[in-house]
Amino acid sequence: MGKFLQALCCAVFGISSSVAADAASPVQISIDASKPGATVNRNLFGQFAEHLGRGIYEGVWVGTDSNIPNTRGIRNDVVAALKALKVPNVRWPGGCFADEYHWKNGIGPRDRRPPTLNPNWGGVIEPNTFGTHEFMDFVQQIGADAYLSVNVGSGTPAEAADWLEYMTTAQPTALAKQRASNGHPEPYAVPMLGIGNESWGCGGSMTPDFYVSQLKMYARYARNYNPAVKMQRIAVGPDTADTSYTRAVMEAWKNKTWAWDIEGISLHYYTVVKWPPAFKATGFGETEYATLLQSTRRMEELLRTHGAIMDEFDPAKKIALIVDEWGAWLAPTPGSPEGFLEQQNSQRDAIIAALNINTFARHAERVRGANIAQMVNVLQAMIFTDQEKMLLTPTYHVFRMYVPFQDAKSLPIQVSAGEYKHGDITLPRVDAIAARDANGKTWLALANLDPANEASAHVNLAGGTAKRARGETLVAPRIDSVNTFDAPKTVVPKVFSAQASGGKLTLRLAPASVTVVSLE
Ligand code: AHR
Repeated sequence: MGKFLQALCCAVFGISSSVAADAASPVQISIDASKPGATVNRNLFGQFAEHLGRGIYEGVWVGTDSNIPNTRGIRNDVVAALKALKVPNVRWPGGCFADEYHWKNGIGPRDRRPPTLNPNWGGVIEPNTFGTHEFMDFVQQIGADAYLSVNVGSGTPAEAADWLEYMTTAQPTALAKQRASNGHPEPYAVPMLGIGNESWGCGGSMTPDFYVSQLKMYARYARNYNPAVKMQRIAVGPDTADTSYTRAVMEAWKNKTWAWDIEGISLHYYTVVKWPPAFKATGFGETEYATLLQSTRRMEELLRTHGAIMDEFDPAKKIALIVDEWGAWLAPTPGSPEGFLEQQNSQRDAIIAALNINTFARHAERVRGANIAQMVNVLQAMIFTDQEKMLLTPTYHVFRMYVPFQDAKSLPIQVSAGEYKHGDITLPRVDAIAARDANGKTWLALANLDPANEASAHVNLAGGTAKRARGETLVAPRIDSVNTFDAPKTVVPKVFSAQASGGKLTLRLAPASVTVVSLE
């Protein structure tokens, strides 16, 4: 392939172009607004809330007697912040926690619920005060769908079947009557159901074949009885690059009988470099910055690898790939309790979030859901709380800026960006996606990865002209800048606009920034 063609093809598919464009040369962006493609499914912006550290207790649930303003025990500030993100779904109760969770401990009068243990995460007492009804109240308060993860590891198909009957049937069964006596006569909606979590690891160390046998039973018996919603059943899929679960589940699905079915398969991939997570959340330099960005870019390769196997069995792309755990997993905040997975969140994490979302959008035909880990106080969180105080992280701001992409149609985009190099790491200088929303507005999201140099991006709109760009940009004094309770506005979006001049629209992207604009 000629050099020019190679550059063009790679740019279209979002791989860094090999055409050299040094920091001083403009980035060339061409968008074809006349050819809308796959929908950027709103479920790509899903959240994950596990019973882990202060993710649920304090982060979401403070109890009805708390001085922290709350609605039926759920803190109002967190609800308001999440509503602004238009969170499509929340995955709950885990994670590893899900495979040791027995839902019956979390219903009925709260003062009579049994305290249990949370061996995965610090061995703390799980009070079970936040259970099924509290979770459903929470998702209803923020306007999100429920994505329940049922216990395959230490549970039974009968326990999962009972949970679904308890939640979704309108018939006067004993379980439905129990639901009504616990305050909810109407059936709940459960649009997403995870069948186990990491069954290759904390969810039971199952071989692919053993898991597939379990999957067939759970997929049959954990029924949705609420005809108002279709329930997507999501099988456990790959851990990072291991393709054994992908192949086993997809092969089983291809040869399935009338007795069971699934609609999705999950992928877990963290930006971590190596285990145990050692990269610092603050006080890092450019080498750590570039290394983690390189690690996050691996998502592209993983979606291709697992997507190709799925295509072998499902060329029509009926089964969705749901990346229901992703994000930066860093060294824990010094002094934080063991197993609570608390870490600060910097401008680097904002760029990591944008790169992942852009990657999902490029694979929108197959990747139709994703859940960042995790929503509040855990890993790459949107929100931090400290008792009555609440703080929005740089990652939160990225999710808020990307709201217009929810359910927009992706547009073909060519990015000739050149490279950002650090040591032996080479990354694209700018990563971008474009989409058209339901009102016909064209949106462009760009991340300038180069931490030292501004990038000038020339935007060309095929089939139309781009006269103006308006939106927001997230810039920070440093790549490791964070928001703290003392300085909560160090990293916040700023208004961004650009006007075409001489027939050319040029966007000046600050070093290490994320920008989202609409084009007019
Ligand atoms: O998100 C933290 C943990 O990471 C989850 O519980 C588990 O599924 C994964 O290993």
